[in-house]
Amino acid sequence: MIRLHVHPDKATAVRAVAADIAGLIRARAAAGKRAVLGLATGSTPIPLYAELVRLHREEGLSFRNVTTFNLDEYSGLGPDHDQSYRWFMQRQLFDHVDVTPAETHVPDGLAKDVAAAAAAYEAAIRAAGGIDLQVLGIGRTGHIGFNEPPAGPATRTRQVHLDELTRRDNAAFFGDVAKVPRHAVTMGVGTILDCRRVVLLAWGEGKADIVRRSVEDAPSDDCPASWLQRHAACDFVLDPAAAARLARR
Ligand code: PGA
Repeated sequence: MIRLHVHPDKATAVRAVAADIAGLIRARAAAGKRAVLGLATGSTPIPLYAELVRLHREEGLSFRNVTTFNLDEYSGLGPDHDQSYRWFMQRQLFDHVDVTPAETHVPDGLAKDVAAAAAAYEAAIRAAGGIDLQVLGIGRTGHIGFNEPPAGPATRTRQVHLDELTRRDNAAFFGDVAKVPRHAVTMGVGTILDCRRVVLLAWGEGKADIVRRSVEDAPSDDCPASWLQRHAACDFVLDPAAAARLARR
């Protein structure tokens, strides 16, 4: 079931999500346990990471008991490439908090045996006890992670081909669409559905149509995010522009 949360603006929205994540981290710490977070990249979660860094600096939120798994990585980009998602996570979050580096996981874009690395990534998630809370953005193709359509609920971590719309949407970051990788490694829709909670963020009118399809149309491989309707605890956190085409608010 998808629960909708429409906030007055994205700053308010990310404060609510960061407070939610901080509550999870602190509750686990109080119980002597680790919190396992699934993290996303792209422009959408940047203000969320800024707010988590602020909570660390100003309100003493510690990430020492946090383990993270990122959704995806571009194939062919190493951790030192400034468009790799490992680089993004270091700059946006990991370098600014007290998380243990070895407890942060991003798929390896340079793995020689991609299938073995993907299976190992799934195994590492299981060994950590599964993901407590997965943060998601959504692409205009309906992708979550880099699960471009068609992608169904049985898909697991694997290499995928990037949609041309996605490559164009990310061209500005690379300076030229020709430089955007054609493949990526991503958790599957099934991997995401296994997470105990899922929180999808979307801002702006550019996402309004795909948000409506994800929430209101019957689940279909043509819109991978629509499979989130089958999740028991999925929240869509939206600004008014992203929620504008929804019939039910
Ligand atoms: P964006 O990308 O946050 O840059 O809009 C979202 C996504 O592709 O998941």
